[in-house]
Amino acid sequence: MNTFELDKKFIAPTYARFPLEIVGGKGSVLLGGDGREYIDLGSGIAVNIFGAVDDEWVKACTEQMNRFQHTSNLFYSEPCAKLAQMLCERTGMNNVFFSNSGAEANECAIKAARRWGALNKGEEYTTIITLKNSFHGRTLTTLAATGQDAFHKDFLPLTEGFVYAEPNDIDDVERLCKENKCAAVMFEIVQGEGGVNALSKEFVSGLVKLAKEENLLLVCDEVQIGNGRSGMLYGFMNYGFKPDIFSTAKGLGGGLPLGATVLGEKVKDVFAPGLNGSTFGGNPVCCAGAISILSRLDEKLLAEVREKSEYIFSTLRGSSGIKSVSGLGLMIGVETEKDSNEVLAKCRENGVLVLKAKTKIRLLPPLNIPFDTLKKAIDVLKDACRI
Ligand SMILES: Cc1ncc(COP(=O)(O)O)c(C=O)c1O
Repeated sequence: MNTFELDKKFIAPTYARFPLEIVGGKGSVLLGGDGREYIDLGSGIAVNIFGAVDDEWVKACTEQMNRFQHTSNLFYSEPCAKLAQMLCERTGMNNVFFSNSGAEANECAIKAARRWGALNKGEEYTTIITLKNSFHGRTLTTLAATGQDAFHKDFLPLTEGFVYAEPNDIDDVERLCKENKCAAVMFEIVQGEGGVNALSKEFVSGLVKLAKEENLLLVCDEVQIGNGRSGMLYGFMNYGFKPDIFSTAKGLGGGLPLGATVLGEKVKDVFAPGLNGSTFGGNPVCCAGAISILSRLDEKLLAEVREKSEYIFSTLRGSSGIKSVSGLGLMIGVETEKDSNEVLAKCRENGVLVLKAKTKIRLLPPLNIPFDTLKKAIDVLKDACRI
């Protein structure tokens, strides 16, 4: 049996896969099982920040692999400690809990917020306000945090204690805050799976003000937009505030599973031994790779991200068959006149891999995609959208 047949027979059918097997790649170009090369505008859904088989990242991971590949969290390990230091020093936060995925990073953020609420506001202050149309993960608690009924309906009952506000409606957040005993408000600066919509600056300033007045924690889910994708190291930095907690994953590991929950001053003492843990969390190979990623997300690279973003926005906006372009940095949603499935298939036919978010085309290219490769790919997308 070939890979398609094996997959169909032996893999639980939770994914609607594209009809393409990936067999290799280098940088922003992936090699298909059909022998063709494809420009990758998806980065494995915002994971491969420096593209496929990035030399420095491979070197960092392999060197660590040759030292030791894993130790339990009962022992100290340098890559884990150094990565935590980098994350804290570059964001002004205090300490980090490492896990393996975005959902787990959010689980930890939720645990931290609930314990903080109970300890500081009163035992019943455990409710977390999230936003409608958000996406926070697939575990039962992060599904509950996700403000979309479609994700809930087959898996009830979910974890209690989440209420959902309209994005960009501060009055709605305030109402929920008054009606419930809340510990935190948790949000994505750019709702990714929800359709690549950036929150308005006015709304986010409203959240910051409300959090101060009502003693709420601000929890940013930086799983998709974080790690340089927004044109700043973390998405919230574009909005000029610092959250109390942020979670991240995806791009941080650069292709290996790594999640991080980064805790600020207010919550830095919320955990004690035994209150959270993970066998693989902070794996030294993943952390060594992440150090190589984070150390290259410098001002020069971030300026390039902003420049590429501007190029995509200005090229696509107003182009034939394109209704709107949304997002931030290199996390971009394109609303098309044609059915986005048709556009996506046409792009693939012409050697470019794009993603979808709801009914939009979603672009999440590697941050270091060469300009000429990006231009080629955007031309293909423009052509595919044209009516
Ligand atoms: C904003 C956000 N949070 C959480 C998650 C869940 O991450 P993971 O799939 O690594 O559990 C995702 C995944 O798409 C995401 O985009």
